[in-house]
Order: sequence, then C-alpha cells, then structure tokens
Amino acid sequence: TPKKAPPMPGDVLVHAAGEKAGQPVTEADLSDQVTRAWPMGKDATGAPVIRDGDPTSILAIFKFPEGELKAPTNLDATVNGQIVAYGDRCTHAGCNVDNGTAPSGKSIMNCPCHSGQYEPREGCKVIGGPPPAPLPQLPVKIEGGQLVATGFFLTRPFGYPSDEEWQHYT
Ligand code: FES
Repeated sequence: TPKKAPPMPGDVLVHAAGEKAGQPVTEADLSDQVTRAWPMGKDATGAPVIRDGDPTSILAIFKFPEGELKAPTNLDATVNGQIVAYGDRCTHAGCNVDNGTAPSGKSIMNCPCHSGQYEPREGCKVIGGPPPAPLPQLPVKIEGGQLVATGFFLTRPFGYPSDEEWQHYT
C-alpha cells in the first residue's frame, strides 16, 4: 500500500517528529544532527500519504559544511555535496540510530541498542560496534524549497530480507 511503500522517486520528505511533524523538510531545518523524516507520496486518488507504515522507510537527514562529505558517500545523490539522507534503521537489528559524539567531539551516529556507530560524512560507514553494513543512502534534491527523493535507497536497507525483494524496487 502507499503507506507501507519504501521512499519513491518524487516523494517529499516531511518531519517525523517535533513541532514540524508532517511538514516538508527545508534546508534551513538541517544541521550535523539527525533530522528524522518520512517520505510523503500520493495514494491512488492523488491525495498525499505519509509512508510511515513501514519502519524501514524512516530517514535521517544531515547538512554538513562544504567539503566535509566525502567518499564513500555518493555525492551525486546529495544536494550540493552538503545535504545527505540515509535510512535510519541500524543494519544490525533494526533500531533507529540517533545522534552520537566521537571522542574527538565530532558528531557521529550512535545506535542505542548495541552501540553501533556510523560516520554520516562518509556514506554512514560503520566505525564501531556490530553493524554489518553502512546505513543506506537515499538520493535527494531540493525542489521548490523542499527536500525530495530522486530514487530508491542505493543499497539494501535492514528490513528487506532478500535481494529478490529488494530488487523488486530498484
Ligand atoms: Fe544497532 Fe544492534 S541494532 S547496534
């Protein structure tokens, strides 16, 4: 169903929590701390539908100063090499990954379940703990001041148990 679908090309990303819940995410909302969002598409009648029926669809969005995002982030799938979106379910066991702080004081992502750590400036590669794979990047652009998905996740997210099921969407 549209509510349970993964993020689709053309979906507008809307805040998942806080005062702006349900409103489109704008560039001004973003920082080096996690902004959680759901993709919002349309149902068969064309009415907007927030795809919050599948926990795998939740996203973590960041904006970093110019030059901080680097490989293996797919920079072509970011906005100006500064705004990047990832799936926000840990690849270990599916918890939502939150803000964390590296010993250097730098912001990273930390999983509250078993202390998995990810570096959002480098494609959310694993930098600590048990996760077997990076968080999947979602390609995005800015359109009319809103953040919009331009494709599917670039790698298979947690929650898609088989490549067959995953390839159905890609
Ligand atoms: Fe994230 Fe285990 S679920 S580290």
